[in-house]
Amino acid sequence: MKIGVIGTGYVGLVTGACLSEFGHEVTCLDIDTRKIASLNEKKIPIYEPGLSDLVLKNAHKNLFFTSDYSALKDIKALFLAVGTPSREDGTADLSYLFDSIDKSIEVIQNNGTLFILKSTVPIGTHQKVSDYIAKKMKYQFYVVNNPEFLKEGSAVNDFMRPDRVVIGSSSEEAFRMMSEIYAPFVRQGNPILKMSNVSAEMTKYAANGFLAVKISFINEISRLCEATGANIEEVRSGIASDTRIGKQFLYPGPGYGGSCFPKDVKALLSTGQTLQQELKIISAAEQVNQAQKNFIAQKMKMILDNNLKGKKILVWGLAFKANTDDVRESPAIDILKQLEMEGSQIVAFDPMGVDNFKATYGASSIEYIDDKYAVDSVDALLILTEWKEFQNPDFTKLKTILSRSSSSILFDARNILSRPEVERAEICYFGVGR
Ligand code: UGA
Repeated sequence: MKIGVIGTGYVGLVTGACLSEFGHEVTCLDIDTRKIASLNEKKIPIYEPGLSDLVLKNAHKNLFFTSDYSALKDIKALFLAVGTPSREDGTADLSYLFDSIDKSIEVIQNNGTLFILKSTVPIGTHQKVSDYIAKKMKYQFYVVNNPEFLKEGSAVNDFMRPDRVVIGSSSEEAFRMMSEIYAPFVRQGNPILKMSNVSAEMTKYAANGFLAVKISFINEISRLCEATGANIEEVRSGIASDTRIGKQFLYPGPGYGGSCFPKDVKALLSTGQTLQQELKIISAAEQVNQAQKNFIAQKMKMILDNNLKGKKILVWGLAFKANTDDVRESPAIDILKQLEMEGSQIVAFDPMGVDNFKATYGASSIEYIDDKYAVDSVDALLILTEWKEFQNPDFTKLKTILSRSSSSILFDARNILSRPEVERAEICYFGVGR
């Protein structure tokens, strides 16, 4: 099928590349001409495992990149994957979405085009979009909600093997066309779920809201574990073996970050407020998340004799999670700000996220290093992201680096290391809830 994708961020680019891999003819459009120029040279602007291979393989064959809307003239389906950033009050700014719709309908001259809302949009957006297009375009069209459930760092795999595909539409024809697009991705029998547009919009927020609650829940329990002497790792396996609870998203850490959970939780709260529905659980999840970041910074301080002034801390991990260079809403931002404010000197390493972090964090005295051991001596090591390369460190090197204070200190805020192994190297181990 001839498909257009507007927006070449994480969602749009992964969607376009994966659809092209299964033979669809895909044109990806972005108004950022520099990004398009680099994609046309097969250079990927983001780090996402597997994406580069797909683009290298399919670009200029059945995957095209352009900033020119006229290239969308004959498409049958248009995925809208532009940014919908949060405003101050938590509501979403839909101006990019409506701009891209405006420009597309100028060139579309067929009946039956699918306008597919792939970006996470506030509940009720499908109706606004539908009314808007109806006013401006004389051809018949369908508005479909097809929320994405991709996780950064495994987005290609998630697209290729989705747990489910959610299609929100009131039209059988739209559902048939969407099923045709997704058929190659659900060969193993995972469901394509048809529902109303508004239910599809709600499903996306409910999924992210629930996952955020799960993380805040385990973070809260981990603090209680710490206070009682229980071990969160043991408690997690104790509860996760109950299939009603499940194993995933029960890993304590420095709090959730990224471009999705913080934004979607805020948007849910704002929707609840508008509709006068108090969302106590979602609201608590957000508060607990903020508290968790404070807790990590305060615990670091407590470990360093309750005084961060002049303390030199080596930080491993700036990205909001492993396998991505994305630092949006990364817990590292708030935590490092607190540590710096209290007078500590930060030396930071991340395998992929340093450039983005520098741009996001702003002016500071953080020293960035490009080898995780490239520092003389520090008072402590703080691990904030669960990158694989942090999971098996060279303890001999670390012991030398951690020589600025009398007791070598390692604070593993992701619980990725084994306490006995760290202690065997005569390094003091601190984790979260264990
Ligand atoms: C999340 C959802 O998982 C996707 O299903 C969804 O499509 C996406 O948002 C979106 O709305 O676009 P993502 O933000 O890429 O995906 O990352 P996650 O793997 O969900 O992690 C989010 C945050 O939670 C990270 O900071 C991560 O470190 C943290 N987390 C996750 C934990 O602290 N503990 C866990 O057990 C799991």
